Amino acid sequence: MERVLVLLGLFVLLAMVGKAQSDWKDVNGEYINAHGGGILAYGGKYYWFGEHRPAKGFITEVGVNCYSSTDLCNWKHEGVALPVSPEAESEIGKGCIMERPKVIYNKKTGKFVLWFHLELKDRGYEAARVGMAVSDTPAGPYRFVRSMRVNPGIFPMNMSQPDRNMQWDWDKYKEWWTPEWRKAVEEGLFVQRDLKDGQMSRDMTLFVDDDGKAYHIYSSEENLTLQIAELTDDYQGYTGKYIRIFPGGHNEAPAIFKHGNIYWMITSGCTGWAPNEARMFSASSIWGPWTQHPHPFIGPGAEKTFGGQSTYVLSLPENKYIFMADVWKPDSLMYSRYIWLPIEFDKAGMPVIEWKNSWKPK
Ligand code: GAL
Repeated sequence: MERVLVLLGLFVLLAMVGKAQSDWKDVNGEYINAHGGGILAYGGKYYWFGEHRPAKGFITEVGVNCYSSTDLCNWKHEGVALPVSPEAESEIGKGCIMERPKVIYNKKTGKFVLWFHLELKDRGYEAARVGMAVSDTPAGPYRFVRSMRVNPGIFPMNMSQPDRNMQWDWDKYKEWWTPEWRKAVEEGLFVQRDLKDGQMSRDMTLFVDDDGKAYHIYSSEENLTLQIAELTDDYQGYTGKYIRIFPGGHNEAPAIFKHGNIYWMITSGCTGWAPNEARMFSASSIWGPWTQHPHPFIGPGAEKTFGGQSTYVLSLPENKYIFMADVWKPDSLMYSRYIWLPIEFDKAGMPVIEWKNSWKPK
């Protein structure tokens, strides 16, 4: 076990120093190609789902990749959990972009449910949809069910009546980043714009609470506002309950965990593939109120998340948590690297993520 965890730490070290030989390889010696990923713990194994990225370009050529491990260190390639479709008319046909896949297990239906950010062919990042696929087995293959915007025709629960009734003069807000535009964004300009077809959904994660309820947490409203939407009991759709948090706060890459009765969320700012200063939030209910705190990172490069961008927090037994991030290499996304670090808590109970060249749980 010790060897395993020191090795885990080594990935962190090597991701940081960025040597060519440092890339994390699977048990067959191939690069682990699972970016923007998340982990499912099921049946004594961990399943790592992530974006398969090509050596050149941004378009998804293969699909959602899956690896399995019993020790979180040695990963076996299980295959492509959700391949791009060969059918030209499919929403997940070649030319689409699939990002930030996350899988959760539904105890009631016995199905594994995969959600991911989907952009449609030849439309850049404009579609801002979420895709959903299901499988009877953890590693898949998953069957693509549909893609969607979030909660068409429904206002967020925490949007005030005056903001819901607002009649925007759209011509006034064509120019972005003006003080008037900012105020309008905070008051729900884009929520109104997208009400009919549903809210935008780009960077995303899923979270299953202790009571079995699951939530989709996603960058919405042109990446300016995070939203949290409750999923139906089968985890395959929305109940219609959702909220906006930090309107105009420009948060991406949400990663969430619950420690005791507190929900913690770590996000990044919005600077594309370039690292930036992370943010941290907490709440005692998933529905808020959410409070912002300083970022939890300590060590060289802490101000820029050690060069990475959050993707997931893996919750382990005995209140242990692993923060996972991607160190993007936009010239060759396939070779983007991974940072995994333990989350600890200071005397005040605040999460702390300290740079470690190697580490193991206490
Ligand atoms: C990042 C985002 C990634 C990807 C990228 C595309 O900001 O976190 O998931 O969408 O932009 O430029």
